Amino acid sequence: MITSALPYANGPLHIGHLAGAYIYADIYVRYLRLRGRDVLWVCGSDEHGAAITIRAMKEGLTPREIIDKYDAMFRKVFDGMGIAFDIFHRTSAPLHYETSQDFFRTLYKNNAFEVIENEQYFDEEKQMFLADRYIVGVCPVCGNPDAYGDQCERCGSTLSPNDLKAPMRSILSGSTPIKKPTKHWFLKLNEHEQWLTHWINEGEEIVGNAINTEPKTYTKTHNPDDWKPHVLGQCKSWLAGGLQPRAMTRDLEWGIPVPPEIDESGTKKLYVWLDAPIGYISAAKQWAINKGEPEAWKKYWQDKDTALIHFIGKDNIVFHCLIFPALLKAHGDYILPTNVPANQFMNLEGNKMSTSKNWAVWVHEYLETFPTGQDELRFNLIKNMPELQDSEFTWKRFQETTNNELVGNLANFVNRVIVLTHKFFEGKVPSINEADKEMSREQFSLLRQHIENIGTAIEKFDFRTALQGMMDISTQGNQLLQNNEPWKKFKTEPELTATVLNLGLQIITALSIVTQPFMPFLSARLRDLLKLKPIENGDWEKLLTHLADTRSFKSLPLIITGHVIGEALHLFTRITDETIDAQIKKLMRTEDKIEMITVTQVVENIKENTDVVTSGKDVTVQRLYKGLGETITYEDFIKPDIRTATIIAAERIPKADKLLKLTVDVGFEIRTICSGIAEHFTPEEVTGKQVIIVANLAPRKLRGIESNGMILMAEDDAGKLAFVTPPTGFMNGAVVK
Ligand code: 2FM
Ligand code: ZN
Repeated sequence: MITSALPYANGPLHIGHLAGAYIYADIYVRYLRLRGRDVLWVCGSDEHGAAITIRAMKEGLTPREIIDKYDAMFRKVFDGMGIAFDIFHRTSAPLHYETSQDFFRTLYKNNAFEVIENEQYFDEEKQMFLADRYIVGVCPVCGNPDAYGDQCERCGSTLSPNDLKAPMRSILSGSTPIKKPTKHWFLKLNEHEQWLTHWINEGEEIVGNAINTEPKTYTKTHNPDDWKPHVLGQCKSWLAGGLQPRAMTRDLEWGIPVPPEIDESGTKKLYVWLDAPIGYISAAKQWAINKGEPEAWKKYWQDKDTALIHFIGKDNIVFHCLIFPALLKAHGDYILPTNVPANQFMNLEGNKMSTSKNWAVWVHEYLETFPTGQDELRFNLIKNMPELQDSEFTWKRFQETTNNELVGNLANFVNRVIVLTHKFFEGKVPSINEADKEMSREQFSLLRQHIENIGTAIEKFDFRTALQGMMDISTQGNQLLQNNEPWKKFKTEPELTATVLNLGLQIITALSIVTQPFMPFLSARLRDLLKLKPIENGDWEKLLTHLADTRSFKSLPLIITGHVIGEALHLFTRITDETIDAQIKKLMRTEDKIEMITVTQVVENIKENTDVVTSGKDVTVQRLYKGLGETITYEDFIKPDIRTATIIAAERIPKADKLLKLTVDVGFEIRTICSGIAEHFTPEEVTGKQVIIVANLAPRKLRGIESNGMILMAEDDAGKLAFVTPPTGFMNGAVVK
């Protein structure tokens, strides 16, 4: 049972996401299937929690619109990258609601909760409790001043709002939160501390879910040495801090309701980190229903012999290694993970990837620029996989790796063999010469060794080494050609040439199978090129059996003598400097630029209460230029209808510090626009001003007032606003273009 972290449907996927939990799992799943193992792999959109509602607020959309938008994007991107889950589900699906609420009921029945009323942060202005990402403060671990209430994005620590240090602010209003009592259902995580510690340290699981009864009996489930050191490290340090009860419900509007018979108030929702991992189970259930065998999910989640593996990024470790196992145990019907091979973070060109700072390579954009470059990206990400520590992606390295390894080594080897087979043997697999038996045996044995190395590395979640093993096969092929120079020897030694090309084709056949987990598109192209049937489950196993047969150089070839192969195919494209420069430029353009400039500061002195003496002083100040936004098309540009207009009246809106209600004359009509400028201008200052507005913006209700448009403003690097004004006397309603 394999799971990949359910991505929050609150933004597009970047290559860091791919490297973290998706390509990593894809390799593993494809490999297991090639070894003939029975695997179910699920994922889906994580559609609840503050991550969604905050994004909705920022984009001016409803949570439902946000999740639909990004869920659709995820499906397209995963499909485009060859990442083929058995099911990509959604936590907004009715089956998931039902599964999560049932799970909660069972926990309630099993006495896993305690109801605690305590003080939690509250935004007085917005009248809302500030759980999770609604509150920002200083990270107690790394000092990041912008850590969220659930997690610090700088150091990856899992947090609670109460862990944050001052100054804290509500992300809704920017105000300092107060504390207010509220009631929630807390998982008694403290009661799970003992068995979890034993399980993490010894790899032994407590039998049954009677965690509070003595004596406790344990059963061996895995070897802790098989877990990555940084995963164990994070778990141990969390355990060392002592486990506290953790709230499993929230005061939110968007989310799965706590079952009504338990929450009589009807206002509480499930905590997103309770419902999200249950999403793995509901996805498996939906998969079984789709297959027409509604019970088929059970063996993956309830059979003690099933290995459950969670693929995640390091920021999800505590949830998957401690909190979710405690929930599963408290429930009682499910198995626990056998391993959680979390990855660390992948940086980009020296900086941490960041959605908010737009410092990322977006997968949908990559696919637009490199529509057939899926495997090049996969290869580069695997080569730099942050398996044990943070790693880095750079465009320069992407170019070098693609050109040297994929074009120079792999494609070069394959193309030489194919072209020469057509040139000398009419595209038919030539036969191995009896006299070259020894050479064949050596080649087969070397090939087998490489393939075994790859398998061993994959089983240890060391995919970088596995990828190297795959390239070793290609290097083996190139060396075979280099040592025997079939292009020169055909005339003088046609039989040796036949043997070498036969062996070359055997190696390509092996490559068509072992490349499949890493580069599925290449694998399919190699099968096409060799005119062999598509890869099937169990093929890796068959390959090893063939190679284990010492007579294999003759009696059990991977591709048979006389088989007609196809024409050479274009496998990889050399990446040019221009392509890379364009990518680097695109990335850099989105960065803010800081410059030091000298300005003359006016100094005023009041002399003897009467004269004002003004003098100038040169000072150096920092100027911040906001980075250019994303490039847009002409079609994007002509969408906004921009007009000149005059503000004819303005008033404050009660209880809204930031908004002014403006009455605006757009020439052909008078309309109302609410503008967030009240902290910058008084109503008197703006009345009579001629301005530029976006006139075709969909109406929006702000504080109960319908706003019909936006006033354009320039903002300097200190956040000061200025109106953009047409020359005096210009008509209202003129088109700005
Ligand atoms: O960190 C995240 O993006 C979460 N949405 C991961 C959830 S994983 C799981 F538990 F569903
Ligand atoms: Zn931190």
